[in-house]
Amino acid sequence: MNIDKINFRSNLFLAPLAGYTDGAFRRIATEHGAGCCVTEMVSAEGLARGNDKTADLLERFEGEKELIMQLFGPDVDPFTRCLDSILKYNPTMIDINCGCPVPKVVKTGAGSAMMRNPEKIGQIVSFLTKNSDVPVSVKFRLGWDLASENYLEFAHVCVDNGAKLLTLHARTRSQGYSGKADWSKLKRLKEEFSNTDVKIFGSGDVFTAEDAIRMLDETHCDGVMFARGAIGNPFIFSQTLSLLEGKEYSRPTTAEIVRTILTHYDYMAEIFDEKTAGHEMRKHVCAYVKGIPGSSRVKAEIVKSVTRDEYLKALESLK
Ligand SMILES: Cc1cc2nc3c(=O)[nH]c(=O)nc-3n(C[C@H](O)[C@H](O)[C@H](O)COP(=O)(O)O)c2cc1C
Repeated sequence: MNIDKINFRSNLFLAPLAGYTDGAFRRIATEHGAGCCVTEMVSAEGLARGNDKTADLLERFEGEKELIMQLFGPDVDPFTRCLDSILKYNPTMIDINCGCPVPKVVKTGAGSAMMRNPEKIGQIVSFLTKNSDVPVSVKFRLGWDLASENYLEFAHVCVDNGAKLLTLHARTRSQGYSGKADWSKLKRLKEEFSNTDVKIFGSGDVFTAEDAIRMLDETHCDGVMFARGAIGNPFIFSQTLSLLEGKEYSRPTTAEIVRTILTHYDYMAEIFDEKTAGHEMRKHVCAYVKGIPGSSRVKAEIVKSVTRDEYLKALESLK
């Protein structure tokens, strides 16, 4: 699948997930078939100010080819000041976050608050496309709330200013992550741009491989962003690829899940020190073992686990 001049190995992407989509998780997702991954949202202001922690979020794992880097900011100003810094990381695409509903972010005018000021996203996309060769994408919601749904108008502003990829999380800001994502709006968005080469990706309520196929079939969108459905379940990528090829897939065995957790731990340990890796893995492991007999004992054990051996021991109660 191509976006602009970039060739991606599949149209199944790992969505940006703050606190999750670090290099270790992206590597696991890529090994299971993700066509590309998106970093978690990175503050354009933090990057412009040379904050090291912010910049660390843009580091690739060894061998990571394509990487979409997501920025957030309230207006064009921090984007003008951070462009040189982000270009040093050689992003495959730069994505602008216009969907984050978190009060700390929206009160600055960034994230989903950007949907209340479409002219601002126009200025940001226009600045980035005029000042670099990196294709720009925008991830947004249906609108601020149901009464002010403006995703079509917003999408046109993005495209008119040069955006090549639009990802719609088909909920409003006021819905947060509750209620159902309205895929009929995703279908409508795809129809709106069907005669253009702008790619439309869908996000929202993709929890199984079957959901992804249904989203592609029902909305005709160009690709899917897997978010919560991929946490603790990177197998969702290979499963969806199997279904796309008309093949059945088998669910991972407990042994395979344990192997994947340990590999994930090893990748974490390559990026972070042992203590951080141990802490960061906890939320992933809780998601990996959900629903497996013995998982409550594992969850009780891993809150005390840090080292790989401690994790291995905690996971033994699954067998
Ligand atoms: C823990 C968490 C962190 C998220 N972080 C980001 C983020 O950094 N940038 C972004 O654009 N969306 C973020 N999202 C939204 C997801 O990318 C996705 O659009 C949303 O979860 C809907 O998809 P789903 O219903 O399949 O999970 C986040 C969602 C969750 C649950």
